[in-house]
Parts: sequence; C-alpha cells; structure tokens
Amino acid sequence: MRIDILTLFPESVDAMLNVSILGRAQERGYIAIQTHQIREYTTNKQMQVDDYPYGGGRGAVMQADPLFRCWYHVISTFGPGRTIFLSPCGRVFTQSVARELKERYSHLILVCGHYEGVDQRFLDECVDEEISMGDFVLTGGEIPAMAVCDAVCRMVPGVLPDEECFTEESHWNGLLEYPQYSRPAAWHGREVPPILVSGDHAKVAAWRKKESYKRTMLRRPDLFARFDESQLTSKADRKVLQQAKAELAAGQTDPTPE
Ligand SMILES: C[S@@+](CC[C@H](N)C(=O)[O-])C[C@H]1O[C@@H](n2cnc3c(N)ncnc32)[C@H](O)[C@@H]1O
Repeated sequence: MRIDILTLFPESVDAMLNVSILGRAQERGYIAIQTHQIREYTTNKQMQVDDYPYGGGRGAVMQADPLFRCWYHVISTFGPGRTIFLSPCGRVFTQSVARELKERYSHLILVCGHYEGVDQRFLDECVDEEISMGDFVLTGGEIPAMAVCDAVCRMVPGVLPDEECFTEESHWNGLLEYPQYSRPAAWHGREVPPILVSGDHAKVAAWRKKESYKRTMLRRPDLFARFDESQLTSKADRKVLQQAKAELAAGQTDPTPE
C-alpha cells in the first residue's frame, strides 16, 4: 500500500505517521507514506496557495492550480491512485470504508483542505471521492487524512503481528469489543473477572463474546439492530447471545464475574 498525502502541513503529518507501528511498517517496507507540500507547487514568488472566494464571503479558498500541480507530480512519479479529498461533505468514514479502500486500491492519494475549502474545479477534475470524519468541521484535512491512513495501513499484511489484531476488534464484525484487563488482578478494590484467569480458553472466548454483545446492545443499539443473528449457526453461539440478552434484561450491565 502506498499513500501520498497532499498538505500544507507535512511536518505535522510526518510527526505522527513516521513513528510507532506505522513508522516501523514503513522501515520494513510493508507500506509507504509520503507527504507533499502543496506550497512547493505554486508559481508565484509569495508561494501563495489561496485566494478570496468568488461571490464574496469570509475566508480564503485553496486555489486549483497548486493542488493540481502537486497531484500531477504524484501521479506522474508514482502512478495513478484513488484520489480522496477529506471533506465534511463526503461519505462518512467507517471500518467498512477503511476495509474497502485497503481491499480495492494499492495507491491512495489523500488531499487535505484548509481555510474555507478547495476550488471545486480541482475536485471535479482530479478527485474520485470525498470522505468525511463525521458531522463536524475541523480546521484542516490533516487529522482526517491521518485517521484514514492509520485505519487502512494497520490492515495491510505485516503491519500488525497477525490478522486477529484487527479482526477481533470493535467494528470488524459490526460489534463493539469486550472489556480488556491487564495486571494486577486487583486494582483499587476492583477485581478482574475470575473467568479471565481460569485458563479455560473456551470459557474465556464465550465470556468475551457475551460481553461484546452486551456492550453493543447497551451502547450502540443502532449497530446491534444491523447485526444478523442468523449468522450464528452453532447452538453454542446462539446460547451466548441469549445469555447476553438475559443478563441485560436482568439489569446486569457490568462485565461481572460468572
Ligand atoms: C474549515 S474546513 C472547511 C469547511 C467547509 N467550508 C464546509 O463548510 O464544508 C477546512 C478543511 O478541513 C477539512 N475538514 C474539516 N472537517 C472535516 C471533516 N469532518 N472530515 C474531513 N475533512 C474535514 C477539509 O479538508 C476542509 O476543506
């Protein structure tokens, strides 16, 4: 997976994406992430990238030409890629959008807007789709671009130790993850659920599944409403779901010991 990020603030993006898991994955060659300073593609002495909006109004709009020249440099150097403009007007980003991007494309070009946004003509000419982080407005597209980059890259083989690292997490199968615990077994008078230290792997797996159902039903009934119960083909799986429902009906909302 190659990801090019067109931005006015490459240092901020690099500082985040060149460290930790994604930094190591780049060093090992599993992914390549490169930022490009849009300002370097201006043709005026002031390196100005924005101008007033036609029709009047506050703020500035990023001009089409520096963006186009930067984008053109990327596609002519690294080949064509799925070009995405980060925008509050786009489709909302989810785990399934991240999965779709990772499965369908090997090269993404992420364009970060700033100020009031970007000249529509650049979007019409070069952009394949717009993606939003949610129904709110940020000052720039850098944080959304980093989020897209991170969510997509962690699913690329080799970036995490194995597939289970992301297939067992929230949102992969439409559910939220079960609660997690680490040492010590007792902290501030709170005990780890004894089942987790029992060494019985089958029981631990069933408990985690049950808590995942409970948490999803409680916190995200909208997600649970979309969960297809007919996929639970084994009797044991259906029993776990029934247990989760019964515990919630009895008001047992905390991940209490079995
Ligand atoms: C201040 S915003 C512009 C908002 C724009 N005038 C509007 O009302 O839709 C500047 C830039 O931040 C980025 N941005 C802001 N909110 C975003 C969101 N929710 N998702 C993705 N990008 C966002 C976009 O790249 C946008 O061009």
